[in-house]
Amino acid sequence: MVIHSLFPDLATAGLAIGWAPLEDLQGTLDPDEWDGHCQRSTLPPTRIHRRSALVKVLADTLELSAQPLRRASDRSPLWPADRRGSLSHCTALCAAAVGRHDAVQSIGIDIEKIGRIEPKLWPTLFSENERAYFDSLNPERLAAETTVFFSAKEAFYKCQYPLTQSWVGFQDVEVTRIDDCTLGIAPPNLPPQPCHGPSIHTARLDDTHVATIMLMPI
Ligand SMILES: CC(C)(COP(=O)(O)OP(=O)(O)OC[C@H]1O[C@@H](n2cnc3c(N)ncnc32)[C@H](O)[C@@H]1OP(=O)(O)O)[C@@H](O)C(=O)NCCC(=O)NCCS
Repeated sequence: MVIHSLFPDLATAGLAIGWAPLEDLQGTLDPDEWDGHCQRSTLPPTRIHRRSALVKVLADTLELSAQPLRRASDRSPLWPADRRGSLSHCTALCAAAVGRHDAVQSIGIDIEKIGRIEPKLWPTLFSENERAYFDSLNPERLAAETTVFFSAKEAFYKCQYPLTQSWVGFQDVEVTRIDDCTLGIAPPNLPPQPCHGPSIHTARLDDTHVATIMLMPI
């Protein structure tokens, strides 16, 4: 199995991040993983099986034992105590990040196909400031940037959830571009909390997919 490196500048001795086409991911599903929550999942069994294969390869590179990745009743992942992690999959690709518990406090990763965030969705997903920024972009950049901003909110949500157990709506936080590879996120009308501290990193996987990641340090 070929796993592509992702955010290599962020990977440390205790953190592994990678992606692969779903069809390239092979492995056997741990029967414990196929528990009640997975059985009720709307995902096809092969998708669960393949995303678990990527998580296992990344855990293996950190010399973490193979363990089933269970899900809570709210669908959030229940990572074994010795690790933190996050995963994301779309129709064709899967990305995941796994970190040792003493290397990272929480992780949120997300991948998205460019072009799915249509203008009719913007009032739901984006603040006035975010939409004003989009208005300043040329059409070529616009599709990628709206996808990146949406993905950043999903990565933030996944990172903060294990720490706060809180729902965050799309209008509750605002994304700003810092530079070509990083974004900031903060509530528009409230003081920022510790979970808004880290930057969100962004990368292109290929011509049509973007990835974002947020890491909460120890
Ligand atoms: C939870 C959510 C972010 C998942 O994103 P998605 O685009 O549907 O799917 P992805 O493939 O990117 O990610 C799926 C993975 O997210 C993880 N996940 C699900 N709920 C999670 C939670 N509460 N916290 C952390 N991770 C979660 C799971 O590992 C899941 O994988 P699995 O279904 O194979 O077990 C999304 O469904 C959701 O509920 N979004 C609304 C909240 C939100 O994003 N707010 C943004 C403003 S901050």
